[in-house]
Amino acid sequence: MTVRYELVNEIGVITIDNPPVNALSQAVREGLKNAIEGAKFDSSKALLILCTGRTFIAGADISEFGQLPKEPSLPSVLSAIENSEKPVIAALHGSALGGGFELALACHYRCAIPTAEVGLPEVTLGLLPGAGGTQRVPRLAGVEAALDLITSGAPIVAEKAQQLSLIDKVLEGDLQEVALGYAKALVASGAQPRRVRDITIDPATVADDLFVSYRSKLKKRARGQLAPQHIVSCIEAAAKGSFDQGLQTERALFIECRESEQSAAMRHMFFAERNASKVEGLPKETANREVRSVAVIGGGTMGGGIAMCFANAGIPVKLLEISDEALQRGLQLIAKNYGVSVKRGKLTEADAAARQRLITGTTLYADLADCDLVIEAVFESIEVKKEVFTKLDGVCKQKAILATNTSYLDVDAIAAVTSRPEDVIGLHFFSPANVMKLLEIIRGDKTSDEVLATSMSIAKKIQKVPVLSRVCFGFIGNRMLRQYTRETQLCLIEGSSPEQIDRVMVDWGMAMGPLAVGDLAGLDIGYKARQALSDEEKGEPKTYCIADTLAEMGRLGQKTGAGYYRYDPETRARSSDPEVLKIIEAEAHKQGVTRREISNDEILKRLTLALINEGFKILEEGIAQRPGDIDAVYVFGYGFPPYRGGPMFYADQLGLKNVYEMICAYRDKHGELYWTPSALLKELVQEEITLAQWVSDRSLPFRQ
Ligand code: 3HC
Ligand code: NAI
Repeated sequence: MTVRYELVNEIGVITIDNPPVNALSQAVREGLKNAIEGAKFDSSKALLILCTGRTFIAGADISEFGQLPKEPSLPSVLSAIENSEKPVIAALHGSALGGGFELALACHYRCAIPTAEVGLPEVTLGLLPGAGGTQRVPRLAGVEAALDLITSGAPIVAEKAQQLSLIDKVLEGDLQEVALGYAKALVASGAQPRRVRDITIDPATVADDLFVSYRSKLKKRARGQLAPQHIVSCIEAAAKGSFDQGLQTERALFIECRESEQSAAMRHMFFAERNASKVEGLPKETANREVRSVAVIGGGTMGGGIAMCFANAGIPVKLLEISDEALQRGLQLIAKNYGVSVKRGKLTEADAAARQRLITGTTLYADLADCDLVIEAVFESIEVKKEVFTKLDGVCKQKAILATNTSYLDVDAIAAVTSRPEDVIGLHFFSPANVMKLLEIIRGDKTSDEVLATSMSIAKKIQKVPVLSRVCFGFIGNRMLRQYTRETQLCLIEGSSPEQIDRVMVDWGMAMGPLAVGDLAGLDIGYKARQALSDEEKGEPKTYCIADTLAEMGRLGQKTGAGYYRYDPETRARSSDPEVLKIIEAEAHKQGVTRREISNDEILKRLTLALINEGFKILEEGIAQRPGDIDAVYVFGYGFPPYRGGPMFYADQLGLKNVYEMICAYRDKHGELYWTPSALLKELVQEEITLAQWVSDRSLPFRQ
């Protein structure tokens, strides 16, 4: 039974049992309503709602959004609870989130064990709390606290919730036992139903310009997003009107959010993130290897960040460098990064020191003999990497996992220099490695299931979003990025300015424009990578000549104070540089390109369609398992706006037929070299199928 009811010494105990997270599915809502109705007529003096399993209710059932609403609605269940004549008590453990926390707020009393968390994460799904959360939280915790809690979506622990009056009692011990004790004590004290809706908000507690200033703050913090602005409107309604009026505002705005493309995209991302760690065809019983110690080879930009990821998860790391001097440099960089976290108040000094102590340096391969996982992050050169893997093969214990952080190189070729290619895998972190959530996991031809399964679970341990990719040049993310960069460079030489391109992409929602990203990463990185390629591999000069010229002039981006833009040496503030336009014009002249005015719309289309078309090719070749994986790569690794759902979801929203026709139009205008539509895209358009349908129907073309 999803919802059980039993009478325990005058307390009517309603137990919800809907694994894995007790989501408020139709069966739960119905069960709750029936239990509340039924309890009216028995001898219970109070009702207690609690959950079995790992958590209290973690929210509405997200998979039900987008379907026709099913009765009873959550608001009607909550009003049955709130209107109960017998006191209703919620007992929380795990995560009481979204509709789950709203249910608790509709109860008359709330207790929790200390490890419980509460929160309203709807905003992360492009939604707002749609069952009274925006009306009840400000009545209990005050308007400012409500704005912070609901627009951030971040959960808070029980003690903090108690300080904000969102929970009445934090109780140590077995949940059922302490909650029953609390309920009995309430009955004994003659406690009556106590409705949050009856609390009035004193207007004097709300500053005159609070809502205006909060809205403008959110315009920056949650650029382009609908839900955060609507949340402010709901809380404003709570502060200025009656509870019922506030509920009406909340309902109307909730429905608007629920029907929005933004929410559809963010719900898609919720499931894409979780599905990404599932490997098709990997037997469930595949054993995981223990990873108790890690080694990182190379303590540069990436190696240091990777070492921090493991130390942050409590796993000791040995950092190997080529010389004592390089090692000291690497360790100092790590110390500096931890120092910044302490300065920003993100870590205590003691925690930072403890983590730093977990990272020890060496220059001797023999010191890595006992490590369970080794991650190589040395220069991007196949020769250097092969040399490192040959040495690792010689010293590492049997069953150690040997991983490379290469951005582009052939993982199979690296594995082939070892006597144990089944233990070799790509673990591709993104810069800054201790911050970015994406981890591409590159499965080589010979990588064993065990190594793959272990890599997936270790990724979660270090709080990354793992996405599986097969071997190809650049894997999923960088292979697509090459096409995006190509179109950026072509728009630049054909007539745009760096400012125009970056503005278009940022206004559309990208975290940064492509040229500002180039300056941040350093223009020498791409330059050096191109130097290693043949002319044929490099492609047409007009796709890289501007970048090469800037790099050759020593304009490497932020680190040299100039790249596509100028940077203030003190503040790093960015400004336009008329010099760059002259360089672009000179390059256009050299390449025989006549510059023209390029519209914002053209920039947006060329850059996003280049990503989408390559994404389709990656799917048709089986490099990525599913479109959602590609979306996860772009949202968690490349600053793609989550409210657009990643490039592949965006393609479905544009309509595949439109996408195909636009690509064909570019092919006719710019030639086949860059704009040959993917065969899979063409096929789906012919079959009149969306990507979402393609995912759900295994009999469709190109399914692996
Ligand atoms: N609806 C449907 N499925 C859900 C779900 C939900 N609300 N929450 C979690 N799940 C599913 C996941 O998809 C996953 O399924 P899978 O095993 O098939 O992949 C499974 O439950 C376990 O989830 P996690 O892997 O995320 O488990 P964790 O233990 O890491 O995290 C959690 C647990 C913190 C509860 C996390 O799942 C979470 O944050 N869930 C979403 C909470 C949320 O956003 N709630 C608000 C919903 S909207 C709402 O309530 C609207 C209301 O205001 C009207
Ligand atoms: P980096 O140049 O900052 O660091 C490389 C480090 O490796 C240097 O400190 C060097 O002393 C050390 N090293 C070189 N050869 C060595 C050897 N044989 N043994 C031990 N140490 C050695 O380079 P970065 O940027 O950290 O890149 C490392 C790898 O990570 C490359 O494969 C790169 O493609 C990849 N990568 C880089 C990203 C970035 O944004 N910088 C992002 C993702 C992957």
